[in-house]
Amino acid sequence: MNTGKKTRLAIFASGSGSNANKIIEYFKNHDFIEIALVLFNRKKAGVQQYAIKNQIPAIYCPDKALNQEVIFLASLKPYSIDGIVLAGFLSLIPAYLIQSYPDKILNIHPALLPKFGGEGMYGHHVHDAVSHSGVQVTGLTVHQVNTEYDQGRIIYQCRVPITPYSDPLLIAKSVLYYEHHSYPMIIDHYFRNKS
Ligand code: GRF
Repeated sequence: MNTGKKTRLAIFASGSGSNANKIIEYFKNHDFIEIALVLFNRKKAGVQQYAIKNQIPAIYCPDKALNQEVIFLASLKPYSIDGIVLAGFLSLIPAYLIQSYPDKILNIHPALLPKFGGEGMYGHHVHDAVSHSGVQVTGLTVHQVNTEYDQGRIIYQCRVPITPYSDPLLIAKSVLYYEHHSYPMIIDHYFRNKS
């Protein structure tokens, strides 16, 4: 039954925010999901500009604050958040937050997990490792978030071919293209079936 209330998602990001931007664009005037908050933990995170441009509340939350359960949950309360999507968020999500949002936190990783994941595997580190390994296919993974880096249940993967001419930069660019075109739709499908 559709009660008319939209599912309210928060985006957590640390970096340039290109995925966050695609998610914000996709859910503009969406019938079922609303991006209600952008949270960033690096002062210079580019994601701020997308939030401001789209009049979405944006809060700066350093890791120290994220790890203070009572205060953090209280500060989230006014936004009535139903779920969280990580888009280039580099810090570990604390256990209390995972318990507060069971199966309602998603992450995207720019490789085919379980390979090329785990602590320290982010940004160019992932694509360097993929390139040096000699594999001919990379890709992206969307997964639920648990208390370990990149270990939650996988809900979607997409393969991206590597040509003999691909260097880590080109691999990163190709994967990011597919991230932009798939993550918003995966989020849509996932949360539609979760409510
Ligand atoms: C993406 O490659 C994503 O898979 C990873 O971090 C990167 C974020 O890029 N988790 P951007 O900030 O969205 O451009």
